[in-house]
Amino acid sequence: MNNSLFDLKGKVIAVTGAAGVLAGGTAKYLLKEGATLVMLDLFQDKVDALVADCKANISENVSGYACNVLNQEILDGVYAQIMAEHGRIDVLINGAGGNMPGATIGPDQTIFDLNLDDYDKVLALNLKGTVMPTITFAKAMAEQKSGCVVNFSSMSAGQALTRVLGYSNAKGAIDNFTRWMAVELAQKFGGGIRVNAIAPGFFVSHQNRALLLNDDGTYTARGTQVINKTPMGRFGEQDEVNGCIHYLISDASKFVTGTVIPVDGGFSAYTGV
Ligand SMILES: NC(=O)c1ccc[n+]([C@@H]2O[C@H](COP(=O)([O-])OP(=O)(O)OC[C@H]3O[C@@H](n4cnc5c(N)ncnc54)[C@H](O)[C@@H]3O)[C@@H](O)[C@H]2O)c1
Repeated sequence: MNNSLFDLKGKVIAVTGAAGVLAGGTAKYLLKEGATLVMLDLFQDKVDALVADCKANISENVSGYACNVLNQEILDGVYAQIMAEHGRIDVLINGAGGNMPGATIGPDQTIFDLNLDDYDKVLALNLKGTVMPTITFAKAMAEQKSGCVVNFSSMSAGQALTRVLGYSNAKGAIDNFTRWMAVELAQKFGGGIRVNAIAPGFFVSHQNRALLLNDDGTYTARGTQVINKTPMGRFGEQDEVNGCIHYLISDASKFVTGTVIPVDGGFSAYTGV
């Protein structure tokens, strides 16, 4: 893209959950747009395969590390490696997250059957798994006095989404953290550092496929409920989050911080009636 408002060339972008569907697809898109990408995900073999694929098909400006976003020692090590390699971090995309089957209240269960261990795990992944990398990587941004963080919220943050209590609680807290951190960084380190979030509607990914689709590709009962409440009448496609994230990390959104932008086919605008 030639428009300088959206120019990403030379920007160093770290992406957690980079082997996943949404953040992974966006990471590849940003690499194509001329940014330098650092791919982070749980397992070394997955990260290596992703980096090799990107180098072969998109650009050489990519590296990757195994990085558990809930392990501070690992985060510190990865931060040191990125700073040694590039000397700066311009963007952090907090893509690691998602629900876990054990933390879901089954169709025949109620809140009184909630498994609190799994609730804790899903809360940790989706909340601390964003807070910890942000605090770690934003140190570079504070020194540079520039940088952007993009978090992943969800439709479950603002309205009750049945069955997924821990996930919903965590995503509600992500909205709050997005605003809180936007204020903290702008007030103490200047307006060059911005923190925003996207709230995707429903996109078929590894973790929600079985909830939304039957084996033959038809909608499950829950999938049908979602489609009926989505005015556009379909699930999102991964590439439909790229533009919003590109906007949030470029100069096009220079005065935008602390926002949560739905990318949801109208789901959050509609009462369902
Ligand atoms: N798919 C959707 O419809 C949807 C909707 C709203 C929000 N989201 C959010 O978008 C984000 C990306 O979700 P997705 O649908 O692409 O899921 P995904 O499962 O495809 O990707 C998540 C990635 O996070 C990685 N991960 C898990 N635990 C980790 C850890 N401890 N450390 C580092 N990486 C870890 C996984 O290995 C995986 O590659 C999540 O925060 C999710 O909650 C997704």
